[in-house]
Amino acid sequence: MPDERGLVRPNWGQAWHGRSARADNGGMAGRHAVSILACALATLAGWCLLAVAHGGNESVDAEGHHWWQHAVFYEIYPRSFADSNNDGIGDLNGINARLDYLHWLGVDAIWLTPMFPSPQVDFGYDVSDYQNVNPEYGTLADMDRLIAEAKKRNIRIILDFVMNHTSDKHPWFIESSSSRTNPKRDWYVWKDSAKQNQPPNNWVSIFGGPAWKFDPRTNQWYYHYFYPEQPDLNWRNPAVERAMFDVTRWWYRRGVSGFRLDAVDTLFEDPDLRDNPVMDNEKNAYGDPKEKDVYNTKLPGIHDVLQQLRRVADQSKAVLIGETWTRDITELKSYYGAHGNELHMPMDLMFTTVNKLSAVEFRRQIAAVDGAGGWPVYVLSNHDIRRVYDRYGDGKNNDQIAKLMAALYLTLRGTPILYYGEEIGMENRDPRRREDVKDPIGKLGWPNEKGRDGERTPMQWDAGANAGFSKAAPWIPVGPRFAKYNVAVEQKDPGSILNFYQRLLGLRHKDPALVEGKYMPLNENDAHVLTYLRSYKGRNLLVLLNMSAAAETVNLDLASKGVHAQRALPMLVSSSNSKAIGATQFGLGPFGVYIAELR
Ligand code: NOJ
Repeated sequence: MPDERGLVRPNWGQAWHGRSARADNGGMAGRHAVSILACALATLAGWCLLAVAHGGNESVDAEGHHWWQHAVFYEIYPRSFADSNNDGIGDLNGINARLDYLHWLGVDAIWLTPMFPSPQVDFGYDVSDYQNVNPEYGTLADMDRLIAEAKKRNIRIILDFVMNHTSDKHPWFIESSSSRTNPKRDWYVWKDSAKQNQPPNNWVSIFGGPAWKFDPRTNQWYYHYFYPEQPDLNWRNPAVERAMFDVTRWWYRRGVSGFRLDAVDTLFEDPDLRDNPVMDNEKNAYGDPKEKDVYNTKLPGIHDVLQQLRRVADQSKAVLIGETWTRDITELKSYYGAHGNELHMPMDLMFTTVNKLSAVEFRRQIAAVDGAGGWPVYVLSNHDIRRVYDRYGDGKNNDQIAKLMAALYLTLRGTPILYYGEEIGMENRDPRRREDVKDPIGKLGWPNEKGRDGERTPMQWDAGANAGFSKAAPWIPVGPRFAKYNVAVEQKDPGSILNFYQRLLGLRHKDPALVEGKYMPLNENDAHVLTYLRSYKGRNLLVLLNMSAAAETVNLDLASKGVHAQRALPMLVSSSNSKAIGATQFGLGPFGVYIAELR
């Protein structure tokens, strides 16, 4: 997980080579055939109601698409979004107070990163109680209110399901570690020393150091893929499965609409605990030997768990999104399940590894995901991945580039997940000194790995103290240049990144071609401009994205795709120096965006 500037950071596990590809997601079509027919009869273009789900009506459109395929998701890191009680830490009531903003922006669903009780070693990804709210963030009543208030604005809430591990302060682990004969002993992965005082095998933790911690009380080691404070659950134990599935049922009953599944790749370990292959003479940011995670990631058992979890989710018409760090499309496809019966949306995190503005590379990656047979989900950054502004900005045209990237992931066929603050052009603020670092991996890996604080800074609401996040000093300093890049200032500026996002989302909600339309790449040899159509029912929406710092002229090659156009009606243009010269010829300013309907 090297933290080179400009590189996406996480690489939770490496590809496991032994597993074969599963078939594509062909089951999807059949499952919806009857609904599609019913809907088509009911209405040609609009929506029809098919079933009543727990929290309201579940709508399926004429193409058989569900709410989560129409939705724009917005990821909130609760600690950093809005602080209602002025203790410097964001909270649920703070989020509640900002729902109108999210509604204005055009958000349909919020993914809350973990807000459960937790010692906060990994800022919530070390859960000590799955059925409550961390007191720093509020109460269960606040959560219920948030769900209800969001629903009034047609916004759904999904939670982060930390499946692979709990906190070492979770009562399950406390019991498990109390004795070798405790009934919960087998809820975690305990093993004897390999040799005297030696861990059971060579596995290293993705967060540095050995993946085993010795417990002198019972003279055994427990396994942790992440921090030692995050012991791995033993998913081979049916009692663990039952308890964890019940957690999801409990939240569905409270009105949540699904889960983002944390670290799915890491649920299972090789039963024989074989050593991982080590890469010769290569060290990671923490100085450990680099390993291929062959025996502790992507083991086949994952798919059975996902299928069962999907059955539970389906009973509540809930959605499952996976944190899936796949090496290739074959692996990504496997997470949809052979019959479309696993994850609704495995995140295509390979998209985040295209770390330069390259029309060629994005075109290749989009084609692969679009052709994978499932419903794509596009992400550019999140609480583990450096912000877009930093990764793609050239220092001169950053605002144009932020708009360009917005236009990319918000006009593709698939569901976009927007990380809070991207819409205002927030940038990373990495700690400058080791003693300022909050994220433990940043302390351990300093200076190679500075941790993830930089992408977790407080949301910038206005130009006032602490960017309007809190009246108290925030738990982590606010980002640079918040006085210019904030919601209040940008809402008033028609040319701002925020207003561009808002217009894009408006377009996405209004124009069926952007949701239903087929993705059709054009001018595939163009190294600078990424060009595609979104085609639906004979309408063609054209998207031109200039990924270069030079002005470009594009002559559309439509004939080879059997498309004809007499005019281009502009729908969204990022700068005045991008324009149509004719129906099939366009001039684009540096990093310009041009979205038009071809007639
Ligand atoms: C992935 C999460 O996104 C990350 O923030 C966390 O540290 C690890 N999983 C461990 O839960």
